[in-house]
Amino acid sequence: MSRSFSFTHAICRAPSPSIVDGLRAVDTGAPDLDLFRAHHAAYVDALRDTGANVTVLPALDAFPDSVFVEDAALCLTEGAIVMRPGAPSRRGEAAAMRPTLETFYDDVREIDGPGFIEGGDILVTESEILVGTSARTDAAGVDALRALVADWDYRVREVQTPPDVLHFKTDCSLLDADTILCTRRLAASGCFDGYRQIHTADGEEAAANAIRFNQHVLLPKGFPRTAETLGKAGYDIRQIGNSEAAKLDGGMSCLSLRFRPAP
Ligand code: GLY
Repeated sequence: MSRSFSFTHAICRAPSPSIVDGLRAVDTGAPDLDLFRAHHAAYVDALRDTGANVTVLPALDAFPDSVFVEDAALCLTEGAIVMRPGAPSRRGEAAAMRPTLETFYDDVREIDGPGFIEGGDILVTESEILVGTSARTDAAGVDALRALVADWDYRVREVQTPPDVLHFKTDCSLLDADTILCTRRLAASGCFDGYRQIHTADGEEAAANAIRFNQHVLLPKGFPRTAETLGKAGYDIRQIGNSEAAKLDGGMSCLSLRFRPAP
């Protein structure tokens, strides 16, 4: 049983009408709420299709980016950790997630200041937790996480999110216990040396934000060469529309917290 991609549960949050005010690096237009909802429903269906218990929380109008639940918390087997997002407009999302985490976990911890850390910068593999420093996550945030998970026996390794990339996982995802899907620009940093790597096709860098969830790999739609590579490698690919989340720099990992709490 893999602790990095075998999950019994996921938490998602419905997109809110305020999603049109979500943060974005480059404005390519407001997301269409109805289309976002349709993509979100397909995403939730793909998670449920694996037999997982998926909780969909109600939309939070006060937080335009709150559909991207991954940034608010890190869920491990032993417990959950409430993040401290670097984006000021997103800090309240983390506090809002805590009561839900407490319904699944006896042990819920919280990142203390002064550092910042967002879930999108954290990749959990079978052997370690990689955290990319970024505009949203700093070294003090990584140190705070390291201290909180030390007694759960996790090794935390600080790496770097490429410049001008929102989150570490914008550019990578776990495919199985040994294999990472990533962009060539991130691979060039050497942070995945020792792992088997599959690189996104040139021009398809946005395909890197995928998730392995039980038997499926959820991949954003629109990246046919990367999808073909993964299919040939034997992965069970589910392609999910992501055009509206992408307008806010969001992808497959951002839309859920995925976990298997200890029985
Ligand atoms: N729009 C997602 C984020 O910037 O956090």
